[in-house]
Amino acid sequence: MRILAIETSCDETACAVVDVTGRTVPRFTVLSNVISSQVKLHAPYGGVVPTLASREHLKNIPHVFQKALREARTTMEEIDALAVTYSPGLVIALLIGVNFTRGLGYAYGKKIIPVHHIAAHIYSNWLSNKAIAFPLLNIVVSGGHTELVLMKRINSFTILGETRDDAAGEAFDKVAKMLGIGYPGGPAIAKLARSGDANRYALPRPMLLSGDYDFSFSGLKTAVIHCIKKHPEIMKDKTALKNFCASFEQAVADVITEKTIRAAQEYRVKTIALSGGVSANTRLREQLARTTAARLNNVAFVIPAPGFSTDNAAMIAAAAYFTRARATTWKNIDASAHAPLA
Ligand code: KG4
Ligand code: ZN
Repeated sequence: MRILAIETSCDETACAVVDVTGRTVPRFTVLSNVISSQVKLHAPYGGVVPTLASREHLKNIPHVFQKALREARTTMEEIDALAVTYSPGLVIALLIGVNFTRGLGYAYGKKIIPVHHIAAHIYSNWLSNKAIAFPLLNIVVSGGHTELVLMKRINSFTILGETRDDAAGEAFDKVAKMLGIGYPGGPAIAKLARSGDANRYALPRPMLLSGDYDFSFSGLKTAVIHCIKKHPEIMKDKTALKNFCASFEQAVADVITEKTIRAAQEYRVKTIALSGGVSANTRLREQLARTTAARLNNVAFVIPAPGFSTDNAAMIAAAAYFTRARATTWKNIDASAHAPLA
């Protein structure tokens, strides 16, 4: 099965062509995975500006689509199904991808599989073709989401906990903005944090003892404001800034790791999967991998292959394969800001 997938939920215009083979266990071959990032456009604002994002998707999508076909050395005639992110995200951004895909569906007489963006982050773990054992606990950490999702089998999602305010990636982006170190904040903080001392500044571990699986990162943001006021050297001295970035990253990693491990114990899972843009963070990856090995017996830890953590369309194709029963005609696809993950 050859799938052409499109993603425009936020600030990446992406198109991928993915082959799926194998009968019982699917094998994914990514033939092309084209991403046009709008990072530079939104950087001066320290966040995504929806109307700018929408216009940029409109401008870029034909080129990204043609490049994806070219790099995959394929034609529309060879595509078996189309896939597109329909939710969650910025509606005016989603609509560009949805409507473009509808046009393709009409013109080439192909079915379209609507894909939920969070399911796609989860299914990005399958792109590396590792065997993944159930029950599976997903920790999805992106610019818009922080969710612990239990899966007993394919397409069965139970949300155990989620953020009550800011998402983990959003916290990285907002803190980076306060520090004036660039956008997107995650990679900027991670780079500085690499050689910093994570024990130098005391920051809270919000909701660590809340007794549930929810998260809250806005309190951490407030603590960051107080800490910067109390320690003016953070804004003046590069070493202090590095130490602060490491301390912040550690606070986020500690909360995510602890809650994930506790949920894994309670639900006796066989695999923990970390996904979403923040899963690109080395400290978080290493800490979760280390803690899983140290505290849990025979639990595997998986992460997406390089390049599939942050938004991309190959993960949309992977999710489309698993949810292909939802394929419909071009007339029936719509976009939605917050469709439930089900
Ligand atoms: O999944 P994603 O590309 O888009 C959404 O669906 O939101 O995630 C983007 C988020 C941004 O907030 C960005 O700052 C964060 O992922 N991010 C990171 C790193 N790379 C990207 N956060 C921490 N460390 C990183 N290395
Ligand atoms: Zn995403």
